[in-house]
Amino acid sequence: MLDRRFHRAAIARLLKSFQAVAILGARQIGKTTLARDVAADFGGRARMFDLETDRDLRLLQQPEAVLAPLRGLVVIDEVQRLPSLFPPLRPLLDRRPLPARFLLLGSASPAVTARGSESLAGRLAYHELDGFGLDEVGPDRWRRLWLRGGFPRSFTARSDAASSEWRQAFVKTYLERDVLDAGLGMPPAELRRFWQMLAHWHGQRWNASEFARAFGTSESTVRRWLENLEGFYAIRLLRPWHASIAKRQVKTPKVYIRDCGMLHALLSVTSAAELRERPQVGASFEGFVIEQAIHASGAQPHEAYHWATPQGAELDLLLVRGRRRVGIEVKCTEAPVLTASMQIAMKDLALQKLWVVHQGSLRFTMRAGIEALPVNQLQELRGALASGEGH
Ligand SMILES: Nc1ncnc2c1ncn2[C@@H]1O[C@H](COP(=O)(O)OP(=O)(O)OP(=O)(O)O)[C@@H](O)[C@H]1O
Ligand SMILES: [Mg+2]
Repeated sequence: MLDRRFHRAAIARLLKSFQAVAILGARQIGKTTLARDVAADFGGRARMFDLETDRDLRLLQQPEAVLAPLRGLVVIDEVQRLPSLFPPLRPLLDRRPLPARFLLLGSASPAVTARGSESLAGRLAYHELDGFGLDEVGPDRWRRLWLRGGFPRSFTARSDAASSEWRQAFVKTYLERDVLDAGLGMPPAELRRFWQMLAHWHGQRWNASEFARAFGTSESTVRRWLENLEGFYAIRLLRPWHASIAKRQVKTPKVYIRDCGMLHALLSVTSAAELRERPQVGASFEGFVIEQAIHASGAQPHEAYHWATPQGAELDLLLVRGRRRVGIEVKCTEAPVLTASMQIAMKDLALQKLWVVHQGSLRFTMRAGIEALPVNQLQELRGALASGEGH
């Protein structure tokens, strides 16, 4: 069992300042396991409900009666099954002194299913659980993490083939079922094809008209499908950053299959050797580093952007917090070289630092402020967004 110490500490911290914390993340990413660990830290004073079971679903039809007497920590798993639970939680969270705090777990973003969660504004904090990070698996295992992705069962499988089989099954058993169950108006036959097209589109700018044409439907429909998949943590939409400079800048988001292991499953890539031969290898590495950089820096989704100009200057990832602006450029090579695009990004975006992440083992300064960073040293980005930080 890999220790997810960083997540555990973050949740424990949030539980001190909020009456309720929601752990949100993809199916099978490890939410229930993490919640059990957090509950263990509460000693015997934790009670778990699982809304995937009929018994607990029925019990929580009367939330005040069932929950009011409990003390310590109350964990409610699969909250997306019962959005009507949110409003009655509010008076329970407003009791003084507070007899119990709540930990809610869900596999879809509030935008998709947890309507009603706004009734808990100010009382409920969100913690997004992502796949394993390099800090958790050990930075020298980056090649395995890249090929298999960060889902615990996939990463820890006994072989690459077993890992790949798990991911293939995961897409069918969980993802497709959940997306379809949510009744978001996506025709089942189209879902698989939509996935596949997104996998081939990985790392490119979203193009609603191409997708609409391919599926014989409207642009607003394919955009809704895209946002649904984002809501299930299946894809990442990297929004464009717009700097206040005279130049024109690209205004479309970039699309990534969030977990690189899932990308490889959709592309039927099962081994490192196969991955190297594919035309998508560069885009795959780019997506991998982007997720890991976001994980390592602790950036929130609204702090991560891409940037590009129609003239061809671009930056793979821009992390923004307050006045901090840190760039990450990804190179699928062991010997990165300084490019004009990097220097333009540095200047136009007024970056404090530009990291050029690569597959080699050398860390060196390419030019003032621009530093080549081996992928297995990505943990350097921890603290990169803290204000007053030197790098
Ligand atoms: N830290 C970990 N180390 C190793 N394996 C893990 C870890 N966390 C979870 N797993 C394994 O991954 C699988 C999924 O974990 P878990 O059930 O906690 O995920 P979940 O997010 O609650 O999934 P679901 O959304 O389907 O309920 C389980 O088989 C679990 O044993
Ligand atoms: Mg679970």
